[in-house]
Amino acid sequence: METVPASPEPAVDLRALAAEDDEFLWRWLHGTPDPEWKRWDAPYFHAADTQVPDRDTFAAAHARHVEDRHRRIVTVDGAPVGLVTRYEEAPAGGGWWELGILLFDPSRWGRGIGRRALAAWTDATFAETDAHLITLTSWSGNERMVACAQHAGYTPVARVPEARAWDGRRWDSVRLGLLRSQWEAASTSAPDDDAVPPPPPDVAFREGEVPAADDLRRLYDAVGWSAYTQDMETLAAGVAGSSPVVTAWAGDALVGLARVVSDGHTIAYLQDVLVDPAHRRQGIASELLRRVFAPYAHVRQHVLITDAEPGQRAFYEAAGFREIRDGRFPGRAFVRFGG
Ligand SMILES: CC(C)(COP(=O)(O)OP(=O)(O)OC[C@H]1O[C@@H](n2cnc3c(N)ncnc32)[C@H](O)[C@@H]1OP(=O)(O)O)[C@@H](O)C(=O)NCCC(=O)NCCS
Repeated sequence: METVPASPEPAVDLRALAAEDDEFLWRWLHGTPDPEWKRWDAPYFHAADTQVPDRDTFAAAHARHVEDRHRRIVTVDGAPVGLVTRYEEAPAGGGWWELGILLFDPSRWGRGIGRRALAAWTDATFAETDAHLITLTSWSGNERMVACAQHAGYTPVARVPEARAWDGRRWDSVRLGLLRSQWEAASTSAPDDDAVPPPPPDVAFREGEVPAADDLRRLYDAVGWSAYTQDMETLAAGVAGSSPVVTAWAGDALVGLARVVSDGHTIAYLQDVLVDPAHRRQGIASELLRRVFAPYAHVRQHVLITDAEPGQRAFYEAAGFREIRDGRFPGRAFVRFGG
């Protein structure tokens, strides 16, 4: 299935450390002289940090970190840009976890990457551990970190005045926290950051009406889904057999379509949502999605498979979908292409 990218934002993901990350991490952690990030990431520690491990010791430590599920690499459109970490405050099993986040390259800062990576790391930590509470610790000079954490749902929970000496003066230590109950409440409410505009009033939506083959061909060709239009008979039969089909019309022109396949009780599978490129970024795809799933609010499993284009993820997350690999919903997804 393919869809309309609803957001120009790059894809921000977390993945396990790989052996090949050794060079990337070495370059940023020790290979770059006086990097800007060390002026922000607990600089009161780095100021005294004259101990640089030799390359072999670093490589050996990295090989161990590859196995460590408490660290992940932050990627933007697949390229590594940072690191997230976590540890459990003693005693083990007490339910208090502390997270860390670091984007190495200053050109990446202030673009919303941190808050998305931190939100994903928070989700993963609540899913993978027994955390009752997650905290993050920063300092009063790092307003970017504090704002980033607040955007990800954290609130300031402790402030230790003048605890840190750095850059010729003293700063407060600042701790931010998020309880599992707060995270659960936020997870079930509608996301507002990715809100899409309401569809334009001159677009009409129709439900349960199967468009003529010519209209279908024009729309599917417009989005480049030629595999479908090479066999119009199968496409038209597939659309007619879907339950239901919702279409968007600008005057007489078919400009969008979404269709679901469902048994009406236990599963609702989204097979297509597509919008003519000339009508994108107007909220049409979101409205199609809302309408096509409306009859299935009582159905537990809403499922879809899509390609990995940047923007797709944000679109579906804004509609409440979560990737299985995020860990929030344990399980595996499989697909087999036949025919
Ligand atoms: C801290 C860090 C992870 C945040 O990630 P990020 O992608 O920059 O954060 P976001 O863009 O999601 O949010 C940053 C917020 O700070 C604001 N901000 C940006 N520059 C700022 C500045 N110089 N002063 C104050 N606020 C600033 C941004 O505008 C944004 O808030 P807003 O959307 O309300 O305007 C990242 O900047 C980083 O790795 N910095 C270096 C290392 C570090 O400080 N790590 C944390 C150690 S405690």
